[in-house]
Amino acid sequence: MMQILRKASDIQQFTKESRAIGNSLSLVPTMGALHEGHLSLVKMALKHSDVCLATIFINPKQFNRIDDLKAYPRNEERDIHLLQEIGCSAVFIPEYEDIYSDDSQQVNINLIGLDQTMEGASRPGHFQGVLEIIHRFFVFVKPNIAVFGEKDFQQLRIIEQYSKSLIPKVNILRAPIFREKNGLAMSSRNERLSSLERSEAGFVYAQLKRAVSLIHEIGFEETLVKIKGSFKKHPHIELEYLILADEHSLQEHSRISSDKSMRLFIACFIRDIRLIDNVALSR
Ligand code: PAF
Repeated sequence: MMQILRKASDIQQFTKESRAIGNSLSLVPTMGALHEGHLSLVKMALKHSDVCLATIFINPKQFNRIDDLKAYPRNEERDIHLLQEIGCSAVFIPEYEDIYSDDSQQVNINLIGLDQTMEGASRPGHFQGVLEIIHRFFVFVKPNIAVFGEKDFQQLRIIEQYSKSLIPKVNILRAPIFREKNGLAMSSRNERLSSLERSEAGFVYAQLKRAVSLIHEIGFEETLVKIKGSFKKHPHIELEYLILADEHSLQEHSRISSDKSMRLFIACFIRDIRLIDNVALSR
């Protein structure tokens, strides 16, 4: 039976008991409204540890728009049911006060520029907010493993860098992107799309794949012109960026280079709903 923990003291009790019997512990932080992608993180965590603790907490500190925070989908009962079904060991569902009772745990580390581009540039304060919550969870739980999805690749790289500098004992695992049938990367925000918008949103991944094949033929700059052109013609989907970047440093590049692992990153809007995605380029 999955344990449902709501207080920081419950977490302490749970992790103490797990450690006492020699269990390794994995952590899967989420903001709820769970989908197959989240469940794959829990399944990966369970493969690599004895006990998996998922968290459900919509972290206000990482939202730079109050309307986005208010509109974020919530479905606690269903989330608990889904986690239970796949054998998650425990879920932590705290209130704001349980997490942020003391504000002294600021995370001050050098992110070597990882937070300066893409989502960092578009959503001021977002990654600082993500690190504040992740730092608290890592300190409370002291997991052996934590799993994050590649859909939020920049977040993943930033958490890897943070963990390497501050809490190197946590082994960060990367989980591949889960996609809907039309290619749309799974995201809790997809729930806010109408069914027509949701099927149209397959366009984003289709353009990303098109860019991958074009880039090898005509280079990134020409590819960008063509992709921008296609988005301009689309009545409902607005392109915010298409960026070619080094997978490790996240520095932007204007051409592919065979000695670096690179990815294409995309962000776009359907109404006020922001969708992001990325894909690795073969060398
Ligand atoms: O990716 C998310 O859902 C959130 O940013 C995370 C990692 C749970 C932190 O709130």
